[in-house]
Amino acid sequence: MTSAASPARPQWQPGLEEKYAELGQRLEPLLPCLEWPLHLPWIEAINELKRQRGAVIMAHSYQSPEIFHGVADVTGDSLALAQAAADCDAELIVLCGVHFMAETAKILAPHRTVLIPDPEAGCSLASSITAEDVRALRARHPGAPVVSYVNTSAAVKAESDACCTSANAVEVVEAMGADKVIFLPDRFLGSFVAAQTDIELVLWDGRCEVHEQFTAQQARHARERYDARLVAHPECPPEVQAEADFVGSTTAMGAWLEKEKPERVALITECSMADNLRARFPAVEFIKPCNLCPHMKKITLPNIHACLLDLKHEVSVPADVAARARGALQRMLAVGRRDRA
Ligand code: 13P
Ligand code: SF4
Repeated sequence: MTSAASPARPQWQPGLEEKYAELGQRLEPLLPCLEWPLHLPWIEAINELKRQRGAVIMAHSYQSPEIFHGVADVTGDSLALAQAAADCDAELIVLCGVHFMAETAKILAPHRTVLIPDPEAGCSLASSITAEDVRALRARHPGAPVVSYVNTSAAVKAESDACCTSANAVEVVEAMGADKVIFLPDRFLGSFVAAQTDIELVLWDGRCEVHEQFTAQQARHARERYDARLVAHPECPPEVQAEADFVGSTTAMGAWLEKEKPERVALITECSMADNLRARFPAVEFIKPCNLCPHMKKITLPNIHACLLDLKHEVSVPADVAARARGALQRMLAVGRRDRA
């Protein structure tokens, strides 16, 4: 699935399978032996280019396993990637995730070059609201600070007092010191936060096109049919969250599994999450839904290779927008993170 013509597949080199034997074995349950040899030449070529360029590859938890395990140096949820970008020493960052994540990396690491393998990798939440919408909300609720989920454009972040992720949303809202907060754009994450605080939240009607599709009936079915514990992302509808044993960010899901060590778990989130956690928890049986994020899946080994080779798809943010957005992101990073476990 590439948005542009794929470059020629790198040559197969003798000894590749031996070189990546340990990784291949670890990923065997996720990438069958028929598929693995297709990925290996790309993985080798990307890792070689990465060394030559002194680049760091950061990958979100929803990236496909051959990217997440094969070429990424830093992996995690959107908060972990934002923190890693802020702390990054490398001159070149390749962000394997969606566009708002690459913009966030650029805003927090303004002197680094940030590339995204496919600049068309968007997000239904980020495209649900504009900077003008935020100004109109402020006018309707004078004095109420604005907390925006990182799943927003740089222009929306620039209109916000603070950003948050699903890992720290309650803390950020409470750190605003206000009785009423405008929280945008995810209505379902907003209602998850509202249930945990006395602060009045003004919500926007943004939704994740992947998580909004899950239903409470599917969740109950997974529990009853497979005798599975249920873990849901807070972007799921409230009635789905209500069925879950645990609701949290993608990193918090890993922490919960570490603590609970369930025999069987259904992850009510994007499909690759289960693949990426399965390699870390071989004793846990994962029931994974096949809901793919079409935007996350725009990132592929061939387009990572092409962007590193040609140093293309550099992310840029106008300086004045970046300066204001950085303030909102830094306010979030100052609050710190909380994983619900
Ligand atoms: P996380 O903040 O959990 O990484 O989620 C980001 C995202 O886009 C989930 O759909
Ligand atoms: Fe956006 Fe949903 Fe895809 Fe996450 S899973 S990037 S919120 S569309």
